[in-house]
Amino acid sequence: MRQSLTHRFEQKGGGAFIMKHESEGVKVVIDVIAEMQIDLIIELGTFRGGFTKLLNDAFPIAELHTYDLYNETKQVREFFNGNVVFHNEDVLIKCPSLMQLLNRQEKKLLYCDNGRKRQEVAMYSWQLNPGDFLGVHDWGYEIFLKDVNDYVSEWEQFGWGKLVKAKTTSRFWRKP
Ligand SMILES: C[S@@+](CC[C@H](N)C(=O)[O-])C[C@H]1O[C@@H](n2cnc3c(N)ncnc32)[C@H](O)[C@@H]1O
Repeated sequence: MRQSLTHRFEQKGGGAFIMKHESEGVKVVIDVIAEMQIDLIIELGTFRGGFTKLLNDAFPIAELHTYDLYNETKQVREFFNGNVVFHNEDVLIKCPSLMQLLNRQEKKLLYCDNGRKRQEVAMYSWQLNPGDFLGVHDWGYEIFLKDVNDYVSEWEQFGWGKLVKAKTTSRFWRKP
């Protein structure tokens, strides 16, 4: 059975964060993202902002946009730097701000971690540019090969060896 994904951690600068990611494997996820050398990160599914905080700390210069239906980060907003934009929008209906971001020329990562990953991949993978990265969380639990094959079967599986070894359920692809 999978370990609980909900973890609380405190940062040096203060603030308590909660995230829904594997507590150990998440370091490897950040390492794999570092290898992408990207300037723009888009996270679908902010929740309490824990993973957003790890991303912001690891890539302080990158522009980071995070989307959620709800605003559950009010208490911790002061601990993020100015490069994070919090969007309270529904990404499963037409979302113009997200479409504009995906259209931008910077090399980027779209990380799908809201409740309906299959739908996010289907809706947004085709809008990424060549060289961009797509990521999903909960691989093998909420999203499977059969869900993404129509969209990414020709894409490079990026960092999978490390991610599998670390028992994380994040997976990434690079668009050819
Ligand atoms: C699994 S949690 C995200 C976990 C977060 N990335 C982390 O690591 O802590 C999923 C989030 O997706 C949000 N969500 C669900 N449906 C959504 C939608 N249609 N548009 C935007 N956000 C949505 C939920 O409110 C929830 O906070």
